[in-house]
Order: sequence, then structure tokens, then C-alpha cells
Amino acid sequence: MTTTPKPKASKAKVSTKAAETKALEINVESGDITGIDTLALVVNIFRGVKQPGGATGAVDQALDGAITQLIEDGEIKGGTGETTLIHTLGKIMPRRVLVVGLGPQDKFDAQVVRRVSAEVVRFLRRKGISSAVTIAHGAGIGGLDPQQSGQAIAEGAHLGLYKFGVYQTKNSEPSTEFEKLTVVELDKARAKAIDDGVKLGCTTALSSIVARDMVNEPANHMTPSDMAEAAQKVAKDQGLKIQVLDNPEMKKMGMGAFMGVAQGTDEPAKLIVLSYEGDPGNPENNLGLIGKGITFDTGGISLKPPGGMEAMKGDMAGGASVIAAMQIIGQVKPKINVLAVIAATENMPGASAQRPGDVVRAMNGKTIEVVNTDAEGRLVLADALCYAREQGITRLVDVATLTGAMVTTLGKACTGVMGNDDKLIQQTIDAGKKTGEKFWELPMFDEYKDLIKSDVADMKNSGGRQAGSISAALLLAEFVDGAAWVHLDIAGTSTSDKASGYLVKGATGVPVRTLAQLAVDLAEECAPKKANSKAKAK
Ligand code: BES
Ligand code: MN
Ligand code: ZN
Repeated sequence: MTTTPKPKASKAKVSTKAAETKALEINVESGDITGIDTLALVVNIFRGVKQPGGATGAVDQALDGAITQLIEDGEIKGGTGETTLIHTLGKIMPRRVLVVGLGPQDKFDAQVVRRVSAEVVRFLRRKGISSAVTIAHGAGIGGLDPQQSGQAIAEGAHLGLYKFGVYQTKNSEPSTEFEKLTVVELDKARAKAIDDGVKLGCTTALSSIVARDMVNEPANHMTPSDMAEAAQKVAKDQGLKIQVLDNPEMKKMGMGAFMGVAQGTDEPAKLIVLSYEGDPGNPENNLGLIGKGITFDTGGISLKPPGGMEAMKGDMAGGASVIAAMQIIGQVKPKINVLAVIAATENMPGASAQRPGDVVRAMNGKTIEVVNTDAEGRLVLADALCYAREQGITRLVDVATLTGAMVTTLGKACTGVMGNDDKLIQQTIDAGKKTGEKFWELPMFDEYKDLIKSDVADMKNSGGRQAGSISAALLLAEFVDGAAWVHLDIAGTSTSDKASGYLVKGATGVPVRTLAQLAVDLAEECAPKKANSKAKAK
């Protein structure tokens, strides 16, 4: 039950920038914004507004109508994330006023605040401004409750400022970091609610960043053992139980599908099991979060083409998101038991690697013909799902960068959802609406099952070119044994090609915040269910 000690010397970590820079500090104060001594005061405006009201109106008046003038001149339009910097030249205490657009009022929601908050802090950082005061976007005429606004501001700011600590020994231009954001609200009770939101937003965003860091790490610095170590840290910090199974233990348990993948690499595989007990007297009130943790996917003997293969260091994003979600759950403490199971290994074409045509047997006894060693995610997940079922989990959500077909189908805007339980699917999609992470359901019609029929085993691990994401999910469905189950294919959404809103280029941290939100929502629903009761018939 222990992790293999790592050869530390060969892994001397280049000290990363992320580790060196101070984390952003976010405070909430109650007071009058025009009287605050700050480098920049952030106010906002909806699109099409000619005469600003509320806090922005007060600042406009104090500046002798400067904002109204800029609107008249067409320089301020209020488009989402549009930024206009005004120097106050001593007219008011704040040295500058930054007017940020909130877009059209009828499209306004917490997601707009996350995006705007990110654009604001990145803009200020580019300008070399290290701190600012902001009003709580949307908590006035925007109709958001103050807590939601505070949470979204904190999430947007942390996630938007995120930089992966790169391994460059020569530092480029020393840049100013944005270090401190203060949200100011006149009303004390509202300020308290904003503060609660900010605290929660810091928790969710900083945990998403844990996942981003893991995904951005190159595969030689994020091995299965490193993943286990990251999980150990989360367990220690949050007081969660953790168990890490190694290859001999997993072989003994009959995890032939997982071990088939793991036999191609010298790097020890790990089954990482984290458990949070939020309702110990009620074991049926549970949720299993299952993550694909392929720390590098070469494709195995069915080797991938070299172009872009480096992106496959991120093939453990599902596992990372599950570990990171447990960090939120451990802090938010919903009344539900959550078991996280991460199947971590490399997929390498070593001398002992499995061959196309090999037949493996998963923990539940079902056999799989491995027609393509690059369809490895479903193999490791098959055993992880079986393991969670054996632990008594009756509600399962798996997260995986499972198929390239997902990127073709939905691109990078939303995560594909499949599953056998309409209610749990809807609850996942709804949790995503709260976090701003988007999901879209794909069908699981029986007709697709023919795609994975095998002549020699119970199924084969690739259904070929047709409906690739669905046939992958249909294989997973064979291992959930009647439990309510949702599968999230994050092949597209786990990384971003560019900085946009609160995303930056590289890992996104999707769907960390949604997994935690789902646990919270299920805890509030609190009606425990039994396996078989809610699952659709097979
Ligand atoms: N990890 C890949 C899927 C992937 C591709 C994730 C691109 C992110 C970006 C997965 O293991 C894989 O290789 N899937 C194969 C399945 C096929 C062989 C049936 C694929 O999608 O090509
Ligand atoms: Mn693969
Ligand atoms: Zn893979």
C-alpha cells in the first residue's frame, strides 16, 4: 500500500516560476470606492448604457462626466471584457479608473463575471499595475447575488492570472505580478456575503490550478508515482483517507485490463484511491469519481504518429481533475461520501508491451480483445470502475481524455457526456451551468453496440472510425454493473489553444469545479439510491 520511493536525484526539479511568485491575495472591504487610495479602481458598464448608474455613475460624476463622455465618443461600448483606462489626475483618490464592459445585460451571468474578472487582472498585469480595487460586478443591477459575484471574481482572477512555472533557466523580462485585488462594497452585510463568495472562489480556483499544474507538467515530471504523491498531499492537507495500490496488488485483484496497458512501461503503475467521508453513517449516499491517469500515451505498439505526440503528457487530465476536485470537496465538506479512483500508468511500447490481438480479462471477469493498444484509456478505466463498484459505490462519474473523436465532434467548447442514468447526466450538466463549464450529451443507442463486438472476446477495445466517442463509452458501460454512471470525455476541453477569458494556453482544469459542485448538489438532494434502481436497463 505504499508508493515506490522515487530516485530524487534524477528528478531535481527546476525551480518553477509558479513556485516563486506570490499567490494572488483577494480581500473584501466595506467602504466608499471613490475615497480609496489605490493604483486602479475597476468599475463596469453594460453594453449600450449611455448614462452609467450605481458605483460607476458615482465615479463618473466625481470625474466630471469623463465616462459619459467616452461613451458618447464611442470609445466605451460596454462589450464583454472591453477595457478602458482613465487617469484621474488627482480628481479622486484612485490613481486610475478602469472601466470594464459586461456585455449585453440580457446575457449577463456569473460566467461573464469570471471572464471579465480574468480580463481585468490580466490587463492590469500587462500595464505593470500590481494591485487594484474593484466593485462586485453584477451584484447591483446585474441581479447576481453578492456571494455569487464574489466567487466568480475570485475564480476569474486566480484562473486568469495562472501561469505554469516553465522550465526556462534564463528568465525573460522581469515582469510585474498582479498581487492584490480588493473588492469594495458599501453595505456591510453584502460585503460579508461577497467575502464568503471570494473565499469559496479561491478554494475552487486554486484547486483547479492543482489540476492545471499536473496536466502541464511534462511526463518525466508527472509519472504515476508523482500523481500518487500529489494525491498524498491533497489527502494530508484535507484529512482524506488514501490508498495507493501497486502492480502486484492490482494483478492479484484481477485487474487484467489495466495491467495489460501497464506492462509496456518500466514505470510502476498506481491505482490511487482517495476517500472523503461526509456521511459516514449512510454508506449508500455515495459518489465515485473515476479518473484516467495515462501520464503519457505513446499509443503503445499501435504507436501514434510523432506530430503533436507531446500533447499526450496531458492524458492524465481526468485523473488530475478528480484529485483536484477532492481538494475542494475536502474543504467544502458536503454531506456525501466520495471515493476517487485514479488509474495511473504510462502507455509505452516496451519489450513486454501488450500486442494488438491480445485478450485481457478485467476485474469483473469480462474479456476484451485489444485490437488497438492506443485505445488504452477504456482498458484502465474498466478496472477502475470495477474497483469502485467493489467498494460499494452506486453512483459513478468517470473523467477521461478518452477519444480524439471527441475533439472532432464537439471541439474545445464543451465536454461530451454519456451515461446510463438520465438524472445523473442532467445533474452533471446542471452543475456545469453553475460553474460555467459546458457539457453536451451524446447518445448511447443500442445500435452502436455492434461496433465493439469481437469474434474472440466479450468485446473489442476499438470500434473503428464510426462514432468513436460513443463506442468507447459503450465499452465502459460494460463495467459499471448496474450503477448510475456518467462518462465525461474531456479530450477537447482539458486544454486550451489560447488565452481566452479565464483560460490560458495549456491545461484548463476542466471539469474540477463541476465535479465538486456535483458532489455538493447531490449531498443537498441527499436521497441515497441503490444500484440498479436508477440505471437504465442494459
Ligand atoms: N488519449 C487518446 C485520446 C486523445 C486524443 C486525447 C487527442 C486528447 C487528444 C486516447 O487514448 C486514444 O488514443 N484514443 C484513440 C482511440 C482509437 C484508437 C480507437 C483515438 O482517439 O484515436
Ligand atoms: Mn491512446
Ligand atoms: Zn490515451
